[in-house]
Amino acid sequence: MAGFTPPPYPYDRLEPLRARAASLPGGIVDLSVGTPCDPPPAGAMEALAGSDAARSYPPSVGTPAYRQAAADWLGRRFGVEVAPSQLAACMGTKELVAGIPQWLKLRTPERDTVLYPAISYPTYAMGAELAGCRAVPVAVDERWSPRLDTVSDDDADRALCLWLNTPGNPAGGLDDLAAGARWGRARQIPVLSDECYAEFTWEGPPRTILESGSEGVLAVHSLSKRSNFAGARIGFYAGDGDLVTYLSEVRKHAGFMPSGPIQAAGAVAWGDDSHVDVQRALYRERLELLARGLGAVGLTAVMPAGAFYLWVQAPGGDAWSLAERLAVEAGMLVSPGEFYGPAGAGHVRIAAVQPADRLALAMDRLSAAPDRSEETR
Ligand SMILES: Cc1ncc(COP(=O)(O)O)c(C=O)c1O
Repeated sequence: MAGFTPPPYPYDRLEPLRARAASLPGGIVDLSVGTPCDPPPAGAMEALAGSDAARSYPPSVGTPAYRQAAADWLGRRFGVEVAPSQLAACMGTKELVAGIPQWLKLRTPERDTVLYPAISYPTYAMGAELAGCRAVPVAVDERWSPRLDTVSDDDADRALCLWLNTPGNPAGGLDDLAAGARWGRARQIPVLSDECYAEFTWEGPPRTILESGSEGVLAVHSLSKRSNFAGARIGFYAGDGDLVTYLSEVRKHAGFMPSGPIQAAGAVAWGDDSHVDVQRALYRERLELLARGLGAVGLTAVMPAGAFYLWVQAPGGDAWSLAERLAVEAGMLVSPGEFYGPAGAGHVRIAAVQPADRLALAMDRLSAAPDRSEETR
């Protein structure tokens, strides 16, 4: 019987294009992985260096200070009140996203299906696969939100959870989170709302599913993007008290423990909002610079409703060919949309994660390349 074989990691498939982009004078402008290039807040780094928490085991669920700081942030940012006991730490959110189907399956063994938007962060589907579950994509509408009305009764009956992601990676869409929560409650399906880009919402205020109550839902948050702390690996999940207790107890047995000094630094980062204002302005400027430069050569690049990616339609629907052109002409490394599901295959994702001068270099190279306007129409 064939066992599980890990597929190639999506970004590893970019190596040939990476080499071509890197060969340009001035080097590569890597806009593939959504990894921050700016520094974390100084206060968090000081707390990390000065923490005495490395000697003993940290609480798996999070220190009281960490949970309180995260709960306070939810109150400040969204006006929702969550008791620290309804909130638990995780080691960045990728491990939680990848692991949660197996723990939900332990809790509800008669269910075996993970629902997630058809164009989305690949770890939703991978988490299902790692748990031996069915990964069932939900078709998205023209604003990139999942169409819950298309989920079959059979899939809903078997669902362990539904993932939502607002603002969304890769397309930057904003979902109706209240409608999602209602849909899940009516069917007894936990709704997991991945909100790691919440601070980078460009249309309207930041939002959380917790604004429509905590019953049957979890909001998942991370310091990776908000505070440029991706290397530190820290986040949290909050919401339904029973679900948080179940998951955090299972995770404690399995040894999931964000490191003590990182928790100390994380508490400081959640407590500070001023660095996030600075970061918002930077991402907005970078997105606008890229959208202008791509538009000038005839590509369709519109500002997203949220997050820090441009989701660009590839001429002729050929994303690999656009990725190659951008690597060869502009030294830019971007992600073909199939990384985010087969439904994304006609787009590329461009992450605004390099300083403006590097983006300007890439755009200058692109505009200096031979005219392709016939092809990009
Ligand atoms: C939608 C989404 N969720 C979760 C993550 C994971 O972030 P982290 O594990 O750094 O918290 C990412 C990272 O790119 C993401 O785009």
